[in-house]
Amino acid sequence: MSDSFLAIDFGTSNSLVGAYHQGKVHGALPLDPKSADPTLMRTLLYFPNPDLCYYGSEAIEQYIEQDMEGRLFRSFKSHLPNQSYLGTVIDNRIVTLENMVGIFLLELKKRAEKHLNHQITKAVIGRPARYSMDAVADGFALHRMEKAAKMAGFEEVQFVPEPLAAAFDYRKQITSEKIVLIGDFGGGTSDFTLIRLRAEGFDNKDVLAIDGCPMAGDALDSVFMSHRLSEHFGAKSRYRLPMSSNVLTMPPAVSQKLNHPAHIVHLKERDTYEFIKEVKKCSLTVKDKDAIERLFILLEDQQIFPFFEAIEKTKRGLSASDSTEFDFDYPGLELKEQFTTAQFIDWAMNTRQKIFEGLDRCLESAGLTPDQVDLVCLTGGTAKVPFIQGELETRFGKQKLQTQAHFHSVLSGLVESASFWANGQKVT
Ligand SMILES: Nc1ncnc2c1ncn2[C@@H]1O[C@H](COP(=O)(O)OP(=O)(O)OP(=O)(O)O)[C@@H](O)[C@H]1O
Ligand SMILES: [Mg+2]
Repeated sequence: MSDSFLAIDFGTSNSLVGAYHQGKVHGALPLDPKSADPTLMRTLLYFPNPDLCYYGSEAIEQYIEQDMEGRLFRSFKSHLPNQSYLGTVIDNRIVTLENMVGIFLLELKKRAEKHLNHQITKAVIGRPARYSMDAVADGFALHRMEKAAKMAGFEEVQFVPEPLAAAFDYRKQITSEKIVLIGDFGGGTSDFTLIRLRAEGFDNKDVLAIDGCPMAGDALDSVFMSHRLSEHFGAKSRYRLPMSSNVLTMPPAVSQKLNHPAHIVHLKERDTYEFIKEVKKCSLTVKDKDAIERLFILLEDQQIFPFFEAIEKTKRGLSASDSTEFDFDYPGLELKEQFTTAQFIDWAMNTRQKIFEGLDRCLESAGLTPDQVDLVCLTGGTAKVPFIQGELETRFGKQKLQTQAHFHSVLSGLVESASFWANGQKVT
């Protein structure tokens, strides 16, 4: 029997792989040599054609080199709970979502195997606290992940909640028993675990509650669109259908897709695309029409990815300063806007509320109040957003907050879960 296991933190934005290999722990493996941090591989797939795929940094590099022809996919993890999203069609070839996840996992597996010089068919894979707020959709997402892992060649897989994995990592810093809240704010989901951490070991009974919300960094990016930028792409364009006197506005089904980095590509689906073309034809004013024309440039000239990268850069800028300039200069799409932290806080109010309702549920199901929590540990890229930290400070007090975020903590915990598994203890 092989005693080697891969540990995979398959993230919405970034993925990491470690291993428990022949009795030894291997932390994050340098799988993406072209990345600024080679242990972090961006969760990206780029198909110049249906027979060829590039991953991570190379996906971006090739996408640019090949004049943005073909298809680039990001944030596809967030489609897992969506039962009406089956996948995509690339040049008449159907690629299911399970396929997309499967080939990404397979690439991670191959690169890790090459590094370890060993074939590995068992894996511990992270899963968010909730792929979806709907239990059926959540189960569906996990089922799809199981299928994807099989496609990637894993024969035995164990799924461990990502915030629980992060908790294992923090255990190493504990000298006496403590009630700890772990908040993992990622790209697609915000996840919480309340756990009794002891230095000496782990028992499944120590987990007091796990909960979360399928909203995080991508949802924060989308507020820049929904509150300001989307009107430049027809979100508020008005139109009047032939033979009708009613003035209509672009329906929410379209504008909601437009706003979200994971969903905007769906505007390219034939029915929706044809519908937007009709709206353009029937636009009320030149201004309404011009905005929709910009949307077509965004979709047709493959500018979705760079545009949302520019939004993300602006968001990151607001983690470090009170105001940042958004500057996009693609011909026909030129946009310059100054954004302030105050606006961002205001626009993100609903998202923030939904994220922290996940924390409220977590506390409630553990039967704990904030003052009973001894320590709050934060991880994930979105934990760098000042108002996320601020909210936790208000709720728990600054002295309990460990903001020195450790971005490999989910992965370290998954590797540890793999070592438990190797020694006959399964984390549930
Ligand atoms: N300095 C920063 N300020 C604000 N947001 C940031 C910063 N750095 C990274 N982020 C955000 O963090 C997110 C990525 O975080 P992370 O790598 O933890 O997510 P993930 O593990 O891929 O996603 P998930 O766990 O939700 O599947 C992105 O949305 C990114 O924009
Ligand atoms: Mg994550």
